Amino acid sequence: MRKSKKVTVAGTGNVGSTVAFILAMNGLCHEVVLRGRDIDIAKGKALDMSQAANAARQHTVVRAAEKPEDIAGSDIVVITAGAPRTPGMSRDDLLVNNAAISRKIVKDVVKYAPDAIIITVANPLDVMTYVALKESGFPRERVMGMAGILDSARMAHFIYEKLQFGAGQIRASVMGGHGDAMVPLPKFTTVAGVPISDLLTPAEIAEVVEKTKNGGAEIVGLLKTGSAYYAPAKSAALMVEAILKDTKQIHSCAVYLDGEFGYKNVVSGVPAMIGANGVEKIVDEINLNDEQIAWFKNSVASVQSLIDVLYENKFFEE
Ligand code: 2OP
Repeated sequence: MRKSKKVTVAGTGNVGSTVAFILAMNGLCHEVVLRGRDIDIAKGKALDMSQAANAARQHTVVRAAEKPEDIAGSDIVVITAGAPRTPGMSRDDLLVNNAAISRKIVKDVVKYAPDAIIITVANPLDVMTYVALKESGFPRERVMGMAGILDSARMAHFIYEKLQFGAGQIRASVMGGHGDAMVPLPKFTTVAGVPISDLLTPAEIAEVVEKTKNGGAEIVGLLKTGSAYYAPAKSAALMVEAILKDTKQIHSCAVYLDGEFGYKNVVSGVPAMIGANGVEKIVDEINLNDEQIAWFKNSVASVQSLIDVLYENKFFEE
């Protein structure tokens, strides 16, 4: 008999709760486990979502993890736990605090759900993906970070704002780290197959690129007490869906590079084929122009410098 599907969401803040809610609503898995610091909050949200699933005529049950071992048997663990940004903070300011939280969760994944695929969502995203990989010892196929889908969705929205048509048909592309140096790629961006360069002027495209890079900060500035969660959660849920349905579709995801694009021992956002085994292929056949290569290099260097802060200072050695 086929095994039923179980997804753990670590973190019951806005992103984690919304990921779990989307999974409960779309009925992609049989069980969603919510793991949070406050068990009563996790239990309350789990009950609420299980009841919503019944209202939606879905079979998915949401439960709270009362003990670390309740994550056992998870096919996927989505790690959202960590502090969000508040106004004036860069994602990088969260490094040390969130790295310690991610590491603790990863150690439990290794112990109780050693066959799981890990999807990281906490910031700084690329470094948290690196931490999850190094601290789990999992093969790189089973560790991926969320943000390329989010940044591409933001770029698509800003293109729609300029065009006022094509919503839902805009395929935007963003590579590099999920930070201020991310690399939006107008060259690989289309609206129902029409290249964006045929629809917008170079100045308008440049404006879309800047707005995309600033997309998260714009929302932080408006919310004031935290950062975006609907689009980040939907983006993570799409990665869960690609794995559970074994779609083998291409998404921009943060993955460990081992020579692809000329980089090793670092994580960056690149187009990747996602299926039942996780990251099944990194699409490094794409041709970047010299300017894009330089931007990508800059973005990788920015992630590398944060990895060095953690690992050269032996932050994790007790
Ligand atoms: C964002 O870009 C929180 O990094 C997340 O909104």
